[in-house]
Amino acid sequence: MRLLGIETSCDETSAALISGNPSDPLVTLEVNTVASSLSLHKKTGGIIPEVAAREQLSYILPVIKETLGVSNPLAKKPPIDAIAVTVGPGLIGSLLVGVETAKTLAYLWNVPLIPVNHLVGHIYASFIQSRNKKEVVFPAIALVVSGGHTDLVLLKDHGKLQWLGGTRDDAAGEALDKIGRLLKLSYPGGPAIEKAAKNGNSKRFLFPKPMINSNDFDFSFSGLKTAVLKEVRAIKQLSDETIADISASVQQAIIDVLIKKTLNAALQHKAKSILLGGGVAANQKLRDEFKLKARRYKLDAEIFVPAASLCTDNGAMIASCAFFNYKPVLWKNVYANPQLYFATIES
Ligand code: KG4
Ligand code: ZN
Repeated sequence: MRLLGIETSCDETSAALISGNPSDPLVTLEVNTVASSLSLHKKTGGIIPEVAAREQLSYILPVIKETLGVSNPLAKKPPIDAIAVTVGPGLIGSLLVGVETAKTLAYLWNVPLIPVNHLVGHIYASFIQSRNKKEVVFPAIALVVSGGHTDLVLLKDHGKLQWLGGTRDDAAGEALDKIGRLLKLSYPGGPAIEKAAKNGNSKRFLFPKPMINSNDFDFSFSGLKTAVLKEVRAIKQLSDETIADISASVQQAIIDVLIKKTLNAALQHKAKSILLGGGVAANQKLRDEFKLKARRYKLDAEIFVPAASLCTDNGAMIASCAFFNYKPVLWKNVYANPQLYFATIES
């Protein structure tokens, strides 16, 4: 089976081809094309939804052409069995560009359409073949940590997902982006803070580690953001050294909370695999510390950290999710039964 995956939920426009056989535990990535309107959002220090949607419009066809290796995708049906597309959550203007394009192509090529939930998509980046070729064994605990979400999910099997907890306010990535702005770093804050933190002392500022010892799997990061705001106001003049120290201290606080909660969930649910996904999982310190601390927990679980390019938004994870949760919607049902179309994977 060969799937075309389309992802346009925010500021990345992506299309990918993946293939595999029904009994395969992992899918093979053939092509993953990602165009980003990030440079425009850097100028405004954040995403303006209208601007992101218009950029999606200009990128979508070039990205699909590049992925399929054709100059006119409308001329001939490519050798694919279905199209998978992100239907939410995300910015509605951006989502519509991908969804309407996918619907049109599914109609034109007469192939099924598979609606995919973006967050579940992030989890399925771990089901794409990587160099170590390790297979995910169930039960698995997934940490989805992105700009919009911080969620812990238990996967008992494909299609058997249980949401364990999530952020009560800001997502980890959102907090990093807002703190980056306070520190006058470039957008998005996550990678900028990671870079600044490399020269910083993570012990100089004792920022709160919200809910680290709460007896649940929820998170909260808005208090941390307020603590940084107070510190920045008190300091008035930010030197490069202070920016580096604040970055290192904030990054450490977030990493400590994410790791402790995830490893506790893995312990409680006797997980055999721990899957990291979402843009914040591209953070190298988070990736390294996860592996280090998991050893201390003496967990009998393998940790899966997809390549950084598969942690941030991409079409490959959407196609991978569709492959393992194949629930096609025929294009002709789309108008007759919108609920069917927007039905996402059960949780
Ligand atoms: O998954 P993603 O690309 O888009 C959403 O679904 O939100 O995640 C974007 C988020 C942003 O908040 C960004 O600051 C964060 O991921 N991010 C990082 C890194 N790269 C991206 N955070 C920390 N370290 C990174 N290297
Ligand atoms: Zn995402």
